[in-house]
Amino acid sequence: MCGIIGYIGFRDSKEVLLKGLKKIQYRGYDSMGLVIATEQGFKRIRSVGDVRQLRNKVAKQGSCSGSWGLGHSRWATHGAPSEENAHPHKAEHIYVVHNGIIENAEELKAWLKGPFLSETDSEVVAHCLLDSYKQKGSLKGAIFDTISKIKGEYAIAVMSEKYPNELFAFKKGPSLLVGLGEKEIFLSSDVQVFLPYTKKVVFLQDGEVAHVEGENEVSFYSEGGEKIEKRITALDAKAEETDKEGYPYYMLKEIYEQPDCVLNVIGEHIKKQDVEININKGSGILDQVIRQKRLNIVACGSSYYAALYGKYVIERFSRVFVEVDMASEFRYRSPILADQVPVLLISQSGETADTLAVMKMFQELSLPVLSLCNVMHSSLDRGASAHMYMLAGVEKGVASTKAFTSTLVTLFLLALALGKKNGQLGGSEKEQLINSLLSLPDQMEKILARTQEYVDAAHLVRALKSFIYLGRDIYYPLALEGALKMKELTYRHAAAYPAGEMKHGPLALVDENMAIVGLTPQSHVYKKTLGNLEEARSRKGKLILIGTEGDKVASSLSEYFLSIPACNEYLSSILCVLPLQLMAYHTACALGHNVDQPRNLAKSVTVE
Ligand code: G6P
Repeated sequence: MCGIIGYIGFRDSKEVLLKGLKKIQYRGYDSMGLVIATEQGFKRIRSVGDVRQLRNKVAKQGSCSGSWGLGHSRWATHGAPSEENAHPHKAEHIYVVHNGIIENAEELKAWLKGPFLSETDSEVVAHCLLDSYKQKGSLKGAIFDTISKIKGEYAIAVMSEKYPNELFAFKKGPSLLVGLGEKEIFLSSDVQVFLPYTKKVVFLQDGEVAHVEGENEVSFYSEGGEKIEKRITALDAKAEETDKEGYPYYMLKEIYEQPDCVLNVIGEHIKKQDVEININKGSGILDQVIRQKRLNIVACGSSYYAALYGKYVIERFSRVFVEVDMASEFRYRSPILADQVPVLLISQSGETADTLAVMKMFQELSLPVLSLCNVMHSSLDRGASAHMYMLAGVEKGVASTKAFTSTLVTLFLLALALGKKNGQLGGSEKEQLINSLLSLPDQMEKILARTQEYVDAAHLVRALKSFIYLGRDIYYPLALEGALKMKELTYRHAAAYPAGEMKHGPLALVDENMAIVGLTPQSHVYKKTLGNLEEARSRKGKLILIGTEGDKVASSLSEYFLSIPACNEYLSSILCVLPLQLMAYHTACALGHNVDQPRNLAKSVTVE
């Protein structure tokens, strides 16, 4: 998954591209590149690493200004992160930037002449275009010919030394937008690239081609090559300028923003002390869930773990049956999709390829799709029939924190709303749960104030190479999330199990080198969980427990005890996420890792 940018206009395209790349490097930061048409000819500059390295390299090149160019941020799929594999790729006069995967690259390589100078699948597109150009005699003709030859998922932008002031863009799968400014035109994977300059956007659909001719003119074509009119959308979104505000990393800033995110979600869905779920377009979808007594939830990564939490709360409070799936599995496992049963698709970015593929499956069967996204106007948000928002604000850290917490709180409220609608949740229980939720932001602030505890816990575990996270019932999805945070930030092995499953295998792993992180706040599974943790302790596992303030039993069992304020168990599970995030964060810092950009990962996964 990569990010692409194109620009033609009156500004210095080098600055537009570099600033834009900084905004989309969440899509991949292992290498970057740009090509600019300067007065001295085309200059292509590529470098390993993120946009800082590219900027340094550009600065060393001397003058590199021009009014049109392409940029690319890469997350390696085919070929290691290296300068040769970085985009733009080139075949004679044609330059290409690509996001996605060309599935028939090897077949195409076999009959195209090359020379191929990279290990990527993307370079083949440049050569395919060149070959078609030689036959068709025009770049536009070559584009349509190439579209008919390449297979896979792609968003591609093209420029050529023979076509001054022109850009082409086409897509199948990943998002690709055209921003229309005053005397300037942008191509981009993400609206944030051009929002500082214009709010007018055209969303390309699969198969469509955009042809930019100068700073004022863009035409659109259908897959068949006919000229088409496209709707220009005036976005109501703001350019999201965000900085670290004094924090060493975005992730830490985002962890500390969580109480405010919870307040945003509460403000959105609680009116006059009662739950009133705010669903944009299609509020009837909840009635449909109640009628069918069933809901599918599909997501990836942290959003999938949040979905698992959703299953526990929705089933508990509304008795609606919830089936949760990973999007990457769901799309290939011939699922049984019951007629009329809606799906809730959860995605912070709204651009995760697997989740979008699942949306397509539901749409093809005319089944209703409810989205829960953090990014408005993302592909998922645009495609769904009904919409909810995480309201977490821009999340930059690759490891999700505040968007995850906002999702948990939204799902908690969705569960109450369903229970209220179908009469499964009594008035006084609902009132207590809402009151408990209203205290959550203050309780989170208390946890966040205890920085030293997490630094100390990190100090204790930093030398350990393996972690097992344990929880039962509603704490199990949080154990999964805790293990994910630890592995993605520290590169240590971390796995999560339902605590009761330890005796069926994982217990064999436990010795004095194993950290056991147990989630043991007071709950209906407290004693059972403690029993399982004792079993691990008897095998010399090092227990780090997260439990309720004042719990002497759990505290005396553990090598390190992290406490959270007492509250309802369906909410104490949400509180647990803060110590889990902070322990992973401080351990990664102690190990000297860049927590905002963990190795091999990207924030938005736009390929399978
Ligand atoms: C990537 C990110 C994770 C995220 C997952 C799903 O793997 O690193 O933090 O949970 O994608 O992303 P989504 O945007 O669909 O929630």
